[in-house]
Amino acid sequence: MTHAAAPQAPTFAVVPGAQVHEALHGREQDVVATVEAAYRLHGEGLTVNPDSYFLRFPDRPADRIIALPASVKGGVGVHGIKWISSFPGNVAAGLPRASAVLVLNDAETGYPFACLESSIISAARTAASAALAAARLADARGERPRRVGFFGVGLIARYIHTYLAANGFEFTEAGVHDLSADHAHGFADYLRRSGGEHLAVTVHEKPEDLVRSADLLVFATVAGEPHVTDPAWFAHHPLVLHVSLRDLSPRIVLDSWNVVDDIEHCLKAGTSPHLAEQLVGHREFVAGTLYDVLTGAITPPADRPVVFSPFGLGVLDLAVAKHVYDHVLATGLLHTVPGFFHELKRYG
Ligand SMILES: NC(=O)c1ccc[n+]([C@@H]2O[C@H](COP(=O)([O-])OP(=O)(O)OC[C@H]3O[C@@H](n4cnc5c(N)ncnc54)[C@H](O)[C@@H]3O)[C@@H](O)[C@H]2O)c1
Repeated sequence: MTHAAAPQAPTFAVVPGAQVHEALHGREQDVVATVEAAYRLHGEGLTVNPDSYFLRFPDRPADRIIALPASVKGGVGVHGIKWISSFPGNVAAGLPRASAVLVLNDAETGYPFACLESSIISAARTAASAALAAARLADARGERPRRVGFFGVGLIARYIHTYLAANGFEFTEAGVHDLSADHAHGFADYLRRSGGEHLAVTVHEKPEDLVRSADLLVFATVAGEPHVTDPAWFAHHPLVLHVSLRDLSPRIVLDSWNVVDDIEHCLKAGTSPHLAEQLVGHREFVAGTLYDVLTGAITPPADRPVVFSPFGLGVLDLAVAKHVYDHVLATGLLHTVPGFFHELKRYG
């Protein structure tokens, strides 16, 4: 009689931010490929991605911590959860707004096997998703925009710029707008340093000037409610990466061709598409998902504004985290915690 192989004693690793950075920095095209593969698995029904759970605080309404549990089959083959805080007041104190950890669980045993610093993973997957959408939507419309505009310029805007540049976008003009003049000028300096000598960088005090000056617009504010309300600003039909989700009025959403990452997820939690649905009582203004764009099922028009609103799927975090874990494991530098799982014998 043969016996099944005795299960390996589970191990547990901790992957700090420095190792995550080392695994992802300079490999932006790999991260975009990882994110595209995860979107395809999601579109093919090979993921489980329940609603994000928002922990909010009655005495600190600007702050939140979100849990994103998920499971991915296919080449990724893990379960897990990202636990990500957003405390916008951190920025004034010199700390990033977002901080996060992500736990990977073994698909067979359910055992957690790694905890990764995840603010970098989260920013990277967000930027990779934005760059992927921008590339596919722009190519389908027949032209890569050369004039980019950044509306709200923190860490996410910087990552999106890096991922756009690493994935074939070449800009001649970059506009910047932020409620904080310090942030706007700091980001403009960053663009001048990293964008090459042919990039003309302008800080726009008026949001209207920024919107009208860009053919690719990136919204990465922390606005809780729509503050851009005039559809006439979009008369030149820009491609809009609406990453912060709550900047555009329902009227602008309804005037645009809309693509989301996941319809059920994105039309929730007071996002601009959710407000648009509440206004008109249907979802017909959503043309489809990024997966539909990837498969060619839908094609964006050139004669309307095109708005991509990504809610941010936990499956993307898991896919990028597994990519990082595999890289660190292969380099032989994985930090495991000896004896992390202790009670392993049923009767002692
Ligand atoms: N959809 C996704 O998958 C996803 C993932 C990660 C982050 N995000 C979102 O991206 C946004 C940016 O994140 P971050 O870490 O860069 O934040 P951050 O706090 O570092 O930067 C946000 C910037 O926006 C500016 N700002 C706020 N309100 C503004 C307004 N009304 N007009 C102009 N500027 C304004 C702030 O001054 C700040 O400089 C957040 O809303 C976050 O929730 C979305």
